[in-house]
Amino acid sequence: MHELIELQTDKSEAYAELATGLRALLSGEHDLIANAANFAALLYWSLPQLNWAGFYLVEPGRGDLLLGPFQGKPACVRIPIGRGVCGTAAARRETVVVPDVHAFPGHIACDSASESEIVVPVAKDGRLVGVLDLDSPRLARFDDEDARGLEALVAAFVAATDL
Ligand code: SME
Repeated sequence: MHELIELQTDKSEAYAELATGLRALLSGEHDLIANAANFAALLYWSLPQLNWAGFYLVEPGRGDLLLGPFQGKPACVRIPIGRGVCGTAAARRETVVVPDVHAFPGHIACDSASESEIVVPVAKDGRLVGVLDLDSPRLARFDDEDARGLEALVAAFVAATDL
């Protein structure tokens, strides 16, 4: 309980610091894979209570979401748009927060430790590029503040990267 209160009190400050760190990390580099890999690693090693952080990228031609740079256990490789939490966020083009993955119809279980999840679409000039996916072993780990914080980080990533 104490940890949860502490986490929520410091959240906006933590995201502001992460935004500064992310801009520094990506400065001078525009490559998609390099920047996505460092972004995923920054999130995984900075945010508490995560068991997976990474990207699914729209596959040119076929249009599925294809596994991209990530940190965590090996994950499912291909997710059709509209399927699972990732495919739902991609289809709706909006952030999806899932407090309990077991209660989300069609959730795709990659790591049995995952209890909650947040997926943020990545788009440039109205074109969907992929999604950022974070999983937590804790129920209801993510809230609106995480959604807004991660959307701001994704915007910085999109601005810094050739997409
Ligand atoms: N749970 C996701 C699949 C990806 S893994 O969590 C890494 C989903 O339902 O789309």
